[in-house]
Amino acid sequence: MLPNDPFPPSDFDAWAENYDQSTHAYPDFPFAGYDQVLQTIVELTKPQPGQVILDLGTGTANLAMLFDQLGCELWCTDFSPLMLEKARQKLPQAHFALHDLRAAAWPSEFNRRFAGIVSAYVFHHFELEKKVSLCRELVSQRLVPGGRLVIGDLSFPSLATKKTFSRDIPDWEEECFWLVDEALIALQKAGLEVAYRQVSTCAGVYQIQG
Ligand SMILES: C[S@@+](CC[C@H](N)C(=O)[O-])C[C@H]1O[C@@H](n2cnc3c(N)ncnc32)[C@H](O)[C@@H]1O
Repeated sequence: MLPNDPFPPSDFDAWAENYDQSTHAYPDFPFAGYDQVLQTIVELTKPQPGQVILDLGTGTANLAMLFDQLGCELWCTDFSPLMLEKARQKLPQAHFALHDLRAAAWPSEFNRRFAGIVSAYVFHHFELEKKVSLCRELVSQRLVPGGRLVIGDLSFPSLATKKTFSRDIPDWEEECFWLVDEALIALQKAGLEVAYRQVSTCAGVYQIQG
């Protein structure tokens, strides 16, 4: 466990029981366009039946289930044991591992390459530098050449648009939300080929080509 961890697994354990209800209970923030974000991730990943897909921070497996329905094989990680318990109930046929994305070491069985790597509503817990280094590592070490890393998350076109948006949200709490202008520059500087689609007022999808 990290000392003074701002985002400990216990926060997500406490959310696991009612997570699925909350994705539709907060339609302005943070879940404006939630279903559309997940669908856009699937669309941009271009999955084929039989492909092996890695879902990072799978939560209760809502995104993983969409790939499963298309005939993909799912490998999923999360650092919250109770989120993983929910996910296992929905997708007993998938591979799961308890793993903190901030840790250097991965579970040994996940040391392989995937046709697609996806994640929804997770990376906004990481500073921009960590987002970029994780994307680089995933593309260079875990994605098959020609595969795609597709990340949907809380994301605003710029600092100014985030500020304007946040004024209307009661009890706004600052997190490491993506800012598209700086994120695209940082990802490209790291040698990544990236495209972005804004999906709702507060969320969008980053597509990185392997
Ligand atoms: C908002 S939920 C999103 C769940 C799911 N991907 C979805 O779109 O519905 C965030 C998930 O990320 C997981 N998570 C947050 N930080 C993490 C980390 N450092 N390593 C692994 N999982 C993490 C949480 O446990 C939680 O299940």
